[in-house]
Amino acid sequence: MKSADNSMSTSCAKECFESTSYIFRPGLILCHKRIKLAAGFAVLLLIVGFLDSCWYISRSIAKQHLDFLKFSASGVDAGSNAADGSRTPNSSSSDSEGSGEVCDFSKGKWVADMTPPPYTNNTCKYIHPSQDCMKNGRPDRGYLYWRWQPISCELRRFDAQLFLESMKQKKMTFIGDSIARNHMQSLLCALAQVEDPHNVYFDVKEKEASWEFVSYKFTLSNLWSPFLANHSFVENVYHIHLDMPDMMWSSRINDYDIAILSTGYWYFRPSIYYMNNTILGTNPHSGVNLTIFDKVPAMKVAWETTLNHMINKYNGIIIMRTITVPHFEGADWFNGGYCNKTMPFFDPLMQEPLPWMTDAISRAQIQEFRKAMDRIRASKYDLQKLRLLNVTYSSFLRPDGHPNSFRIMTAFEPRNDCLHWCLPGPIDMWNQILLHILLS
Ligand SMILES: *[C@@H]1O[C@H](CO)[C@@H](O)[C@H](O)[C@H]1NC(C)=O
Ligand SMILES: *[C@@H]1O[C@H](CO)[C@@H](O)[C@H](O)[C@H]1NC(C)=O
Ligand SMILES: *[C@@H]1O[C@H](CO)[C@@H](O)[C@H](O)[C@H]1NC(C)=O
Ligand SMILES: *[C@@H]1O[C@H](CO)[C@@H](O)[C@H](O)[C@H]1NC(C)=O
Ligand SMILES: *[C@@H]1O[C@H](CO)[C@@H](O)[C@H](O)[C@H]1NC(C)=O
Ligand SMILES: *[C@@H]1O[C@H](CO)[C@@H](O)[C@H](O)[C@H]1NC(C)=O
Ligand SMILES: *[C@@H]1O[C@H](CO)[C@@H](O)[C@H](O)[C@H]1NC(C)=O
Repeated sequence: MKSADNSMSTSCAKECFESTSYIFRPGLILCHKRIKLAAGFAVLLLIVGFLDSCWYISRSIAKQHLDFLKFSASGVDAGSNAADGSRTPNSSSSDSEGSGEVCDFSKGKWVADMTPPPYTNNTCKYIHPSQDCMKNGRPDRGYLYWRWQPISCELRRFDAQLFLESMKQKKMTFIGDSIARNHMQSLLCALAQVEDPHNVYFDVKEKEASWEFVSYKFTLSNLWSPFLANHSFVENVYHIHLDMPDMMWSSRINDYDIAILSTGYWYFRPSIYYMNNTILGTNPHSGVNLTIFDKVPAMKVAWETTLNHMINKYNGIIIMRTITVPHFEGADWFNGGYCNKTMPFFDPLMQEPLPWMTDAISRAQIQEFRKAMDRIRASKYDLQKLRLLNVTYSSFLRPDGHPNSFRIMTAFEPRNDCLHWCLPGPIDMWNQILLHILLS
């Protein structure tokens, strides 16, 4: 344990932060450029978007205050640790168990809830230094007191004991980039409240870590695979074989019972894409004189490859985690964009459009998920083999959940991080959905 902690504080200052910060760079440049070049009205939309957000926020404050008062007035025990996450008098929480498919956790709203977060920087020592917002001096705490309320059902509060009991003898891994690691650490912290895990493996570059909850024989790990596809980095350009799974995970995937896969903003980096060992094209960021094959279609092919491989070769449960939304405001990530909101967005009619790039990625993911489900159906595999952890919309509503400036910085870092999530923070909710998926 000691060595893990040490390597975290020393090595992280450079290597892993460099790698995480890069994530948003080219993409947002592109986003910016496109908005400028392609259509002036996009800028207008953006401005209108900001105004809208402000409007929503002021409405939100008023409305949430009301919700909040209702809670206190009805004498709900705010500190209760009941497994039942329901707070509303006429809750339908009992049917959220088992008949899970009926309930759509992807749509809903954040409502005020005084329940303390599942852990804090004082009770969990596994929070990434750069995402440890409390310790890094973030002054406000309001962002910790919100509960995800799906439209037509209740989402049970995370029950770490129940999670560990249900995962006895199992191995779970998070495969993806630094946001996959962010999620893994959220779960690690929540579970560490029941039993302190034993560190099995910790790679100094934080590309891989593995923890065992000894009395449950449950192993939790993450594997670094930012593109999910086979790739190499040569002369500042990524060479990505979209039709080949990354061996980092594919070579040992059957060591795990549950695999949670995600990918996203690394596709914005300078890359040349390949299929069948032949160049397909390059994204616009590589500066290489080749046909353009852009990142969203590239990512789509990589998802197809990944899910195909998993469906055919993997015996465990596949969970596809959807893209999340970065919240840089005022400027781009690299020239002072920030995210200092302290309240969620309130979008009662669920009509706010996602930022366009996230929307494009989200649509590509939907298509690949549906295609994969069709293949599973056609092959007569168990339909529960592939599950969706759809957190795109709920993350979109949480501009207040990022570290912003309350992070560790190095020379090449942007000032603010509006991509990763504070721990504790909004993504602790993902574990509630995860537990639900695993129990149903
Ligand atoms: C609870 O449900 C009952 C019966 O459906 C209804 O009469 C009552 O108004 C509901 N209460 C609340 C607080 O929604
Ligand atoms: C947690 O953060 C608080 C500031 O919010 C700080 O005072 C405290 O020392 C931190 N705890 C640890 C264990 O670092
Ligand atoms: C990519 O594929 C090549 C050729 O099969 C292999 O040598 C290499 O190890 C693979 N790398 C990754 C990261 O999968
Ligand atoms: C892949 O390339 C090989 C030769 O390099 C060729 O024989 C094969 O038909 C190609 N496959 C596809 C699907 O294009
Ligand atoms: C790009 O490649 C094409 C074909 O090889 C060539 O005609 C063109 O001049 C090149 N453009 C630049 C900017 O190098
Ligand atoms: C957020 O940051 C911007 C830019 O630094 C500043 O103008 C604004 O007042 C800040 N808002 C809050 C709520 O701190
Ligand atoms: C994720 O949820 C959003 C909001 O409900 C929805 O629009 C989108 O289609 C869902 N994505 C997938 C892959 O189902």
